[in-house]
Amino acid sequence: MKPRIVIIDTDPGIDDAAAIAVMLSEPSLDVKLIASVSGNVGIEHTTNNALKLLTFLKKDVPVAKGAAAPLLRDNRFATNAHGQSGMGGFEFPEPKKEFLLEENAVLSEYRILKEAGEKVTILTLGPLTNIALLIQTFPEVKEKIEEIIMMGGSTERGNIGIYGEFNVTIDPEAAKIVFRSGIPITMVGLDIGRKARLTAEDLEELEKSGEAGTMISSLFRSYDGGHVEEGVKMYDPSAAMYLMEPELFETKEAFVDVEISSPLTIGATVVDYDGTLSETKNAAVCVDVDVERFRRRYVERAANIKC
Ligand code: RIB
Ligand code: CA
Repeated sequence: MKPRIVIIDTDPGIDDAAAIAVMLSEPSLDVKLIASVSGNVGIEHTTNNALKLLTFLKKDVPVAKGAAAPLLRDNRFATNAHGQSGMGGFEFPEPKKEFLLEENAVLSEYRILKEAGEKVTILTLGPLTNIALLIQTFPEVKEKIEEIIMMGGSTERGNIGIYGEFNVTIDPEAAKIVFRSGIPITMVGLDIGRKARLTAEDLEELEKSGEAGTMISSLFRSYDGGHVEEGVKMYDPSAAMYLMEPELFETKEAFVDVEISSPLTIGATVVDYDGTLSETKNAAVCVDVDVERFRRRYVERAANIKC
């Protein structure tokens, strides 16, 4: 079976790294590009972190630098959770700069979509700034996008403000543009990552499994996305696992829109399952995950990464 063509748009980011690491070892995926975006930390750090990760994993995937700020709003970094560099907790090798394209990420995404002989899946693990710029500037490429699988939004409460999830709330205008684009979307929100947690035993197993497992475990031990004792919330890895093993998840079709006005609820993803708003459904929303199988399959994948 031909590998599925994938673009990863990301703000590494500890959980981004844990997601990307397992994807790059999945033979059924052909990852054409890692596009950085400002999010957890600034664009220089997220771009450098992508390069450091690829250098460590010895994977030769082009990296392109993307948007340095949201469409309208100021950056709000998450260094409290990811450390100053964005990937605190593990000593990565010096990044090989030869992976870094001269081309800006939006242009790289446009080129890959235009040149691809088949539709392309885009996995977003950060704010949607690059994707909004891409589809507003080059609307003709929308038909070349198979699906956008996003770690973003929440069907319950948020993690930045009361209802806002970080990726959507950092750039809510970009998220609104993407949800209204007509492109097939699967939303893997906070509620899923809060259920799909790795335990202390899982981290210990990863530690013993090899270099990549040690790297992931070390990153998670320094990550403030959930202390080890209560389980590490697997936000970005749940979106990556949906891409690779959707059968682990339950989805429901819904109309999703993003609050961009009220200061009280900015970034909230309003999820309408039953047509209350009389709008056409525009997303498949992940509503549940088989936690035990998720944990087992993620640990198996991470423990078997060769680098
Ligand atoms: O809200 C969680 C998301 O925001 C994750 O993608 C994390 O890496 C941050 O980008
Ligand atoms: Ca992220």
